[in-house]
Amino acid sequence: MIECSRIPTMADSLYTRMAEAPISGYDVSLRPPVFSEFCGQEKVKERLLLMVQAAKMRGDVLDHVLLSGPPGLGKTTLANIIAHAVGHKLHTTSGPQIEKAGDLAGILTNVEKGDVLFIDEIHRLHPAIEEYLYPAMEDFRLDIIIDQGPGARSIQLNLPKFTLVGATTRAGMLTGPLRSRFGLVNRLDYYSAEELCLILHRSAGLLGIDLAAEGAMAIARRSRGTPRVANALLRWVRDYAQVKADGCITDEVAQAALSMIDIDDDGLDEMDKRLLETMIYKFGGGPVGLASLAVAVGEDESTIEDVHEPFLIMQGYIKRTPRGREAMPAAYRKVGANLPGGQTQLPL
Ligand SMILES: Nc1ncnc2c1ncn2[C@@H]1O[C@H](COP(=O)(O)OP(=O)(O)OP(=O)(O)O)[C@@H](O)[C@H]1O
Ligand SMILES: [Mg+2]
Repeated sequence: MIECSRIPTMADSLYTRMAEAPISGYDVSLRPPVFSEFCGQEKVKERLLLMVQAAKMRGDVLDHVLLSGPPGLGKTTLANIIAHAVGHKLHTTSGPQIEKAGDLAGILTNVEKGDVLFIDEIHRLHPAIEEYLYPAMEDFRLDIIIDQGPGARSIQLNLPKFTLVGATTRAGMLTGPLRSRFGLVNRLDYYSAEELCLILHRSAGLLGIDLAAEGAMAIARRSRGTPRVANALLRWVRDYAQVKADGCITDEVAQAALSMIDIDDDGLDEMDKRLLETMIYKFGGGPVGLASLAVAVGEDESTIEDVHEPFLIMQGYIKRTPRGREAMPAAYRKVGANLPGGQTQLPL
């Protein structure tokens, strides 16, 4: 069940908290356990299913897989599904958690043949650890240096053949050598409103929520193409429907509930709007650097870069240029400002 502290409040940016690593157990029951329950991302699913099938037919271990894309689109979920599909154990860690070569050795020596090692935030691996990972991925061998100075010696550990599933919100930050060691690189895209509707109906079924088709569409349209956002909004709207209506989530109830937490018709929250207003009113529409923008709105740079920016770019509100972020005409329309240079507003 959702903890009270995680219910969205007006004062708190919903998406800021959603950018954080999900609290274990928070929506674990909503995580689809198998490919057939994972809605959308058809191309990615098709490729992964084919790889799993081929590996099984050969009696071989699945090749390494990289999953990239903005937060909340299903990377961790897919890692779980992959392990389930190959019928082996999933070992989970993350880039920042592996501080020393010994940490990596500790994890890898516990892995058995065919197991899946999931490294979340793989772009945050220390460069020295990456060097250890190369032979582990390619030749299933770990070269460990023991001692320092003249007494230093290297020992070689042979590892069982395993599958590395890496997840990253920043594919661009991955080094070329690491990226090239993955057999399949998949980018997850934002979901369509129709796909999010399917996810919402599935979640509503699991949580015993009375969700009308129009209510689902109203939530889906404001979920920024992100299942994690859709599920969180569903829970909030469920609470609202219980207290302010008869429990059923209709179009009207969903709209009222979402406007109460300042989510507008396009799914933009307070921080999104603050970002656009700051770019336009404080920085003349840009270009403005990420660091200045982060200070001006009082938000963490990485949250802006991982959570807000990809969505605002995708929706055409801002663009990234080598000189910084720039507001697009849609941003001026959104905040009700005149376009620079007295240009006429484009019709909506
Ligand atoms: N395709 C999907 N179908 C149904 N539910 C989904 C799907 N993708 C994600 N979800 C739901 O959204 C939640 C968030 O997904 P997940 O934790 O896998 O995202 P992520 O990409 O790993 O995010 P992060 O980058 O923050 O780690 C899941 O718990 C699951 O309930
Ligand atoms: Mg994840």
